[in-house]
Amino acid sequence: MNSILITGGAGFIGSHVVRLFVEKYPHYHIFNLDSLTYAGNLENLKDIEGKPNYTFIKADIIDESTLNALFKTYRFESIIHLAAESHVDRSIEDPLLFVKTNIIGTINLLNAAKKNWKGNFINKLFYHVSTDEVYGTLGETGLFTETTAYNPNSPYSASKASSDHFVRAYGETYGLPYVITNCSNNYGQNQFPEKLIPLFINNIINNKELPVYGDGNYTRDWLYVKDHAIAIDLVFHKGKQGNTYNIGGLNEWKNIDLVQLLCQQMDVALGRKKGISEKLITFVKDRPGHDLRYAIDASKIKNELGWTPSVTFEEGLKETIYWYLNNQIWLNNVTSGAYQSYYKKQYCN
Ligand code: NAD
Ligand code: TYD
Repeated sequence: MNSILITGGAGFIGSHVVRLFVEKYPHYHIFNLDSLTYAGNLENLKDIEGKPNYTFIKADIIDESTLNALFKTYRFESIIHLAAESHVDRSIEDPLLFVKTNIIGTINLLNAAKKNWKGNFINKLFYHVSTDEVYGTLGETGLFTETTAYNPNSPYSASKASSDHFVRAYGETYGLPYVITNCSNNYGQNQFPEKLIPLFINNIINNKELPVYGDGNYTRDWLYVKDHAIAIDLVFHKGKQGNTYNIGGLNEWKNIDLVQLLCQQMDVALGRKKGISEKLITFVKDRPGHDLRYAIDASKIKNELGWTPSVTFEEGLKETIYWYLNNQIWLNNVTSGAYQSYYKKQYCN
């Protein structure tokens, strides 16, 4: 049985990747390693927790000796590494935490793989999941390609850029087989309500202000999370070792336009009068170092592996809205406790 370690599997994207692999590949054993930070939630995987080819391991990638012990016990053959601190605003508050998890944690995993695979790299793979934010910002035109120079602007993107460099360096220096994917903004079920779309859905439900940073004229390229999981499956099985693939939604939205669309769809979903939710929009102080625009050229993954997004933004956003409306217990559970003090500090209310 192929033994695959997925890190960060209790988080947003990781939980979709874990589910896809557990269900699609009964002959693989999936080990989900997660330290369960505020962003990790085993509720996300309730439906598959009893499957015979699934094991959850609570561990921290900062802890090198535990990683080595786990490699010895379970003999992982491949790693899909998603565990990370992932929120830009939190990285502005506490950059060192991002250095620890995203850089040192990744190096610990690389070392554990290198040590335990002992130079026998046949059928081994270190798959590093990264972000398009490593490329920095675009102006009004142009797209990020796999050869765009790294130019990260936030502590989050700087830590992810560094981890990408280390993965590549282990490939070049020690021959460790790897692939890296750099993906655009994801949205969908189970995303922690600190990121734009779930935060605003939650605030609309609760009639709270919608804090749009600056003038709202910032652009992001949105991809439905299940399409990202499908792309990861494809790159894991068919991607060329030592390669990078950009993954994107081909779906650019200015924040303010997206928020207006979300408000309209939420009014319909909640049976509210048209225009009610838009009244909650409040322009607030801008994020420092705010990147103007991200947009992906996904032609390499399309041409080499045949991947394109399968879910339209209209469908994906609708699915997402109804998921949050139907899962308000999940929402209430993750927005209680420590999240309340984070929210007060970040938005001063
Ligand atoms: P998330 O914050 O929802 O989940 C991160 C998971 O990692 C959580 O389950 C958390 O408990 C776990 N984790 C954090 N620190 C850990 C540690 N020290 N040891 C073990 N586990 C730890 O993040 P996400 O949005 O699902 O992102 C997953 C990956 O995808 C990240 O590497 C991120 O950089 C990348 N990515 C995210 C997006 C996006 O839009 N969300 C886009 C492109 C790439
Ligand atoms: P976010 O979901 O944090 O993702 P990222 O910063 O990784 O792109 O933010 C998406 C966009 O929405 C980004 O331009 C910042 C903006 N934004 C707001 O305007 N208000 C908010 O409260 C948040 C969380 C984000």
